[in-house]
This record gives sequence, structure tokens and C-alpha cells, in this order.
Amino acid sequence: MVKTSTANLVKNRQYFSVNIKGAPTVAPVSEHIDLLDIFAEKKPVLICAPMVEYSRVRFRNLVRRYGCDIAYSPMIIAEDFRDNRIQRIAEWETNEEDRNMIVQFGTRDPVAYADAAEIVYPYSNGVDLNCGCPQKWALRRKVGCCLLKSPELLQDMIRQLHNRLPDPKYSKSIKIRLDAGGDMRRTVDLCQKVEATGISWIAVHGRKPDAIVLKDQPVDYETIKLIKDSVRVPVVANGDAFNLADCHRIAAETGVDGIMAARGLLRNPTMFAGFDKTPFSVMREWIAMFEGDTDYLAWTECHHHLLRMLQPYISKEELGEFSGLLKHKETIVDFIKTKLPDFDTEFTQEEKGLVEG
Ligand SMILES: Cc1cc2nc3c(=O)[nH]c(=O)nc-3n(C[C@H](O)[C@H](O)[C@H](O)COP(=O)(O)O)c2cc1C
Repeated sequence: MVKTSTANLVKNRQYFSVNIKGAPTVAPVSEHIDLLDIFAEKKPVLICAPMVEYSRVRFRNLVRRYGCDIAYSPMIIAEDFRDNRIQRIAEWETNEEDRNMIVQFGTRDPVAYADAAEIVYPYSNGVDLNCGCPQKWALRRKVGCCLLKSPELLQDMIRQLHNRLPDPKYSKSIKIRLDAGGDMRRTVDLCQKVEATGISWIAVHGRKPDAIVLKDQPVDYETIKLIKDSVRVPVVANGDAFNLADCHRIAAETGVDGIMAARGLLRNPTMFAGFDKTPFSVMREWIAMFEGDTDYLAWTECHHHLLRMLQPYISKEELGEFSGLLKHKETIVDFIKTKLPDFDTEFTQEEKGLVEG
């Protein structure tokens, strides 16, 4: 049963492919470019956040075409990735266009982290350690935000990673949340400790782990600024950037080197290029990325993203209707065309100007 579904997955995916040992069949990066060069040249660097189920290869390709400088993979559990080939096939895809790509891992085991990083090293530009996930399962496994409570372990993990992958051009970053207890000095202290291990940059989601239960917790840009002022490595701010103006505002307010967006990009993968919502042509481009794919899972992915992109265009009831559709190309496209009769029109001149500019 498992064999069949894996075989189908591999056969039907036009993008990545993983051979029997688990290495992708796309060409390895011949020489790693140093992503820190991007930070030296541009401010703010615009970054697509790691998003489980969402920041997969096609989405990374799409956002990069519209102003995104660096894109993260969804979080992958390092132990499962290292030990289970099927997991590897299901979780990680890449292709030739997928450059400036960071693979994010979740783990608290230094060896598993280094092992998993070694597998993706030839096909990516860096690895990131998730130190922010507050979900129950992450708390049970003591990964994600639990690492914030163990700065020494974190330092050890990064040191072991450096030992295994000494290439200075291969980035080693972390993504954190703010201190659960609300003591912002502790967050700054953690960042300084991690900086001492030679981390490439630190991305900070400016909320505490309890934001998962305490909804509407505002993003604490003040503490992000405090972190930025306290370390020399680049700092990336994350939280509530929903358009390009937000990115520039947050960068000006905090002085950070980069802005990372998650929900804003889901709703509008073109936000870094200055669009206020996803142009129809880009939705068509997104659908075309799945052309020829007969895999129901692939069309489910296509559909999930369209559900987000369509939000500014159709009513809640219509979104509900769209959500329940069978995930086949024809069904999806027919529905959209019925609700949005100009779906097939080209870019407006204004949109063209933004893309070319
Ligand atoms: C669908 C979804 C999946 C996410 N998955 C991850 C993940 O795999 N790793 C991670 O560090 N954060 C993950 N996050 C958190 C985001 O990366 C980001 O920190 C958070 O959404 C705040 O950014 P935003 O205000 O731009 O959405 C996820 C968020 C969303 C909405």
C-alpha cells in the first residue's frame, strides 16, 4: 500500500524527485552563493516564511518571481527526514528554479540536525532551526519554542552543525519567538549567546508562544528593535507584514535587515512586488505550474493556495463553496471563471508597470 502511493507520488511529480537513497535528482548547487551578500546589498531583504503545508517548491518559485529574495521550506522534523525515505519524499521537494532556499528543521537533537542538514546541503543555500513553534505536538516533542529555554543546547546544536558543514557560504540561521515569560532581556541574551556560535542571521517572530491561545497578541516591534540593536548579525523581523508598505514601515521602525512574511504572502504571493492583491494572471500562472500533474495531492495544494488568494475577490459563502470542491483542475478553474468572469484577462498596464519596475 505504502509502496504504491510512494511510487505514484514519485512518478507523478514533475518537480523534485528523490532517488532510492533519498537525494533529489535535480542538479546540486555547483557552488553555494552566500546569502549574506544579499543582506549586504539590499535592505530590507524580503523573505517568504516557513509554512507547513504551504511554502512548498511551487509556492517558493512563485513568490521568487514577484520580489521575494529568500524562501524557506516548511518545517521538517529532522529525525523523520533522516530516518524515513517516504517522509523525505513527502516533505521535501526542490527544482532548478528553487534557489536562495532555506530548509527549516525542527529537532532538539544536535546529531539529527547535522545529519538532516547534510542531506539537503548540496541542494539548498542554508538550513534554519525552528525555535518558535508553540503547537502542542511541538511542546510534547520539546522542539520549536521549547528550545528558547535551553540556550546551551541551542549553542551546541549550532556548533555541531558548523563542524559538520563548515562551508562559510552555507547559511545557518534560527527563527525564534519572544520569551514566554515576557522577560525581553532573556530573549536578547539568547540571541547574543547564539550569535557567539557564528549564526548567519536571526529571524524573530515578535510574539510570545502563548499567542497561540491569547489571540490578537500584537507584534512587539520594540523588542525586535532591541534585539537588532544588541547583535551584529542580520536580524529579520516577522509578524503582520501584509503588503510592501508594511515591510518598509516595519524595517524603518526596527532597523532590521530583512522582513519575513507568512499569511500576507499566502493571501497575495505578489505582495513583495507591490501588488495589493493577487492579479488574476498570477493565479493563472499558479494553476499552470500544476499543468500535467495528475496527482490529486498536487491539485489539493493548488486549491489550498487559491482559496487564500481568492479571499479579496469573493464572499465568505463563495469561499466556503470553493473550499468543498473536488480538487481537480477543471472543477477549480470552472468555479473561478463562474464567479470572476474576467479571470482570463491579462495584466492591466498598471500591474505590468509594477512587475517590470
Ligand atoms: C499555515 C502556516 C504554517 C506555518 N508553518 C510554520 C513552520 O513550518 N515553521 C515556522 O517557523 N513557522 C511557521 N508558521 C509561522 C510563520 O512562519 C510566521 O512566523 C507567523 O505566521 C507570523 O508571520 P505573519 O504575521 O507574516 O503570518 C506558519 C504559519 C502559517 C500561517
